Amino acid sequence: MSEVSKQSIADSIDIGEPIVELRGVSKRFGSLEVLRDVSVKFRRGETAVIIGASGAGKSVILKHIVSLLKPDSGEVYCGGERIDTMSERELVGVRTRFGFLFQMGALFDSITVGQNVAFPIVEHTRRSKTDIAKTVSQKLQMVGLEGLQDKKPAQLSGGQRKRVALARAIALDPEIILYDEPTTGLDPIRSDVINELIIKLQRELGVTSIVVTHDMASVRKIGDRVVMLHEGKFIFDGTPKEMETSDVKIVRQFVEGRAEDEQLAGIRLKGKP
Ligand SMILES: Nc1ncnc2c1ncn2[C@@H]1O[C@H](COP(=O)(O)OP(=O)(O)O)[C@@H](O)[C@H]1O
Ligand SMILES: [Mg+2]
Repeated sequence: MSEVSKQSIADSIDIGEPIVELRGVSKRFGSLEVLRDVSVKFRRGETAVIIGASGAGKSVILKHIVSLLKPDSGEVYCGGERIDTMSERELVGVRTRFGFLFQMGALFDSITVGQNVAFPIVEHTRRSKTDIAKTVSQKLQMVGLEGLQDKKPAQLSGGQRKRVALARAIALDPEIILYDEPTTGLDPIRSDVINELIIKLQRELGVTSIVVTHDMASVRKIGDRVVMLHEGKFIFDGTPKEMETSDVKIVRQFVEGRAEDEQLAGIRLKGKP
């Protein structure tokens, strides 16, 4: 796809003003060039899906968005503020605008579900115990797990743990939720529960969602917009429907599930389910 048509597609999905922007971001690890002059805007209220092969740099993109990684060159903006040059201290406030569901969705195993969800609230606010308990209950209700406060993470299924991690990600009422492969390792039914939740949170909380996935069912179900990362660049930017009919070879492979097979093979090699 030419730069021109990519631009017109991006402009036609004008959901809101840009809330997150990468401008000319490049990043390498040693000799590995992961991002090459990447520019992308995510708009307020949209659900954008990032696809791409395993190792393409999708998680690296998310980490730049919350400034867990710094670009070698280029700029990162959140709500119009440049964040890649901020100190860790300045970033504390910026990061509370984000909810981050990490790839491994790690919960603290030694504390209860309720304490896990309460964790960011205790870290970042001085709210009372009663007030925190009320919020925890609200957030758990949102993900359909109200009443499980006193369980330990080990007592839950994989899908439930993901939902607890999601309740924790929304504990501080973020404006933007970043999801890193939220359905990986879940069966289709549990994956669909997560997809429904992503849609629900976007509708009910009005959040901007940026979702990394290799799950085509998720892309079709939740995406307002899909961007595809390949060899350090975004090679596609359009709606899921436009993705289905794209004549870009790499996009076609992905849609037809060939890239997905490769990726699953990669995951198996790493010893994940
Ligand atoms: N902190 C790091 N140090 C060195 N290499 C890294 C680091 N983070 C990511 N990489 C490498 O960058 C590439 C992209 O990683 P990642 O964004 O995790 O891929 P994915 O698209 O699967 O999420 C991979 O080859 C990975 O090994
Ligand atoms: Mg990743």
